[in-house]
Amino acid sequence: MDDAAPRRNTTVEGALRDAERRYAAANPKSLARHQAAAAHLPGGNTRTNMYFSPFPLTIARGEGARLYDLDGHEYVDFLGEYTAGIFGHSHPRIRTAVIEALDAGINLGGPNRWEGELGRLMCERFPSLDKVRFCNSGTEANLYAISAARAATGRTHILVFDGAYHGGVLSFVKPDLPLTAPFPFVRAQYNDLEGTEALIRRHRGELAAVLIEPMIGSGGGISADREFLAMLREETRRHGIVLIFDEVMTSRLSPGGLQAKLGIIPDMTSFGKYLGGGLTFGAFGGRDAVMRRFDPSAPDSFVHSGTYNNNALTMAAGVAALGVIYTPAAADELNARGDRLRERTNAVFRRHGVAMQMLGQGSLNVIHVHRRPVRRPSDAVNDPNRQALFHLEMIERGIYLSRRGLSALCLPINDADVDRFVEAVDDYCAVYQPLLRDHD
Ligand SMILES: Cc1ncc(COP(=O)(O)O)c(C=O)c1O
Repeated sequence: MDDAAPRRNTTVEGALRDAERRYAAANPKSLARHQAAAAHLPGGNTRTNMYFSPFPLTIARGEGARLYDLDGHEYVDFLGEYTAGIFGHSHPRIRTAVIEALDAGINLGGPNRWEGELGRLMCERFPSLDKVRFCNSGTEANLYAISAARAATGRTHILVFDGAYHGGVLSFVKPDLPLTAPFPFVRAQYNDLEGTEALIRRHRGELAAVLIEPMIGSGGGISADREFLAMLREETRRHGIVLIFDEVMTSRLSPGGLQAKLGIIPDMTSFGKYLGGGLTFGAFGGRDAVMRRFDPSAPDSFVHSGTYNNNALTMAAGVAALGVIYTPAAADELNARGDRLRERTNAVFRRHGVAMQMLGQGSLNVIHVHRRPVRRPSDAVNDPNRQALFHLEMIERGIYLSRRGLSALCLPINDADVDRFVEAVDDYCAVYQPLLRDHD
């Protein structure tokens, strides 16, 4: 890319303007595609997260742990499609499974040979699952989980946490989001043990469920304290409230999800992302006490229909994904690699004395552009200019991650790729150290 611009800026804003100029000059085809799409898609976009200023890269193709944009640049894919792309691009076992399903005819209008097998694989892996049902996204999985909890308990309210994200229509990242589904929500603060306990007790007669992501993933890699989750487990059990873990992202963090790693087992769990082998996927499940109501032969059964709930491509890819590729050993290895990446990245930040930090667990991590402690999403407010500068500079160094610093490792990332990531961070810190030190 054009590296002629001197990096002698005295402000982050000046450095960002230069970085944006170099980025726009290096990516004319992505810009043209973005502008053409804007004629028919609002903002040229159909997935809000994909947008970043000045315009997103158009990704032309991927291979293993590599991405290639429309202008021909190559990147190491450290985003891993926001955790859905754990297998890397075009994994041969997933390819084979999808082609086999495709050859068998994909719109079969009946149960197929893969769905029961994927159900077995999931129930054997995730301790909270006696039974599971499939749907098409993590958002849908959470909608079903909370709706089932309401129907099963006969209560109305759902306790959620400020700053949490459970899907496009289940977002609590701001106080009032107009598209958030109109359930009666009670909002608590993440990791606030006493405050949340008090809220649960106050609302115990009307609370159907507590919905929590046991580590806030894309919102900052913020781990819940074990004692906090243990309190939720105890209080929900005591008051007959359904405890739902949203493991759409975190289920990758051990062979049995974060619930197994923590040894805290919820009543229900929602899933999505990588478990469909990289294809459209969602699932929810839990104890028989609730899940048996989904048995269509029972007189009092809940209706859970969905044309693509058992879509053959996803079911076949999911069986390959969980049964053959993301084995318990593979999960342990990937998470150990992620732990090393985080330790090395934080060591670089410390050595340069810059106000940055990487938070997370295992293969799921987020870079923050400040050094304040982060216990809940409100602590994780980042200066958007600093985020943008880091992001564009990493892209310029051939590293692809999200604007908000999310990195989700995929299986084909190797030690040399991790070295490259750490070197890129090191170089960024060396170039911008004067701008990055004097920040809180
Ligand atoms: C924790 C969490 N829950 C739910 C979702 C929604 O999943 P989907 O995008 O498949 O609807 C996401 C998506 O990023 C997520 O991170």
